Amino acid sequence: MMERIVWEDKKYSVGQEELDNQHKKIFELINQLSAQGQVDVDSELVSTVLEELLHYSEEHLRYEEEVLMQCSYEDFDAHRQQHWQYLEKISNLSVAAMAHENKVPDEIIMFLREWWTGHILSEDMKYRSALEKGKDKA
Ligand SMILES: [Fe+2]
Ligand SMILES: [Fe+2]
Repeated sequence: MMERIVWEDKKYSVGQEELDNQHKKIFELINQLSAQGQVDVDSELVSTVLEELLHYSEEHLRYEEEVLMQCSYEDFDAHRQQHWQYLEKISNLSVAAMAHENKVPDEIIMFLREWWTGHILSEDMKYRSALEKGKDKA
């Protein structure tokens, strides 16, 4: 059984409430998806959570890019590229996942867990100070 991803402010906060809330919501959806992988549920429920996750994470990335653009984040292009790579990978994986009857393949859950925790900790954290400076200017 896969462990839940547990949100900790100290570990994951990027210092902006809306972004933190969105990251929290993404963790929640990933946890829901991993829990459902273990039990027999109808495929509709699984694909609903997966679809919500795909949709919500895309919205988040778009919002985050807007915030980063507004504070003239210097590594914006590289950051956006990471987002694009994620979107490409997840859309390929989810085509396969949707074909499964009542389980989300572990592969997609593993990818989501690793990508989101890794991206927040190593990439999103880099814009923390740029956001702080942006706050001072406002
Ligand atoms: Fe990001
Ligand atoms: Fe993010």
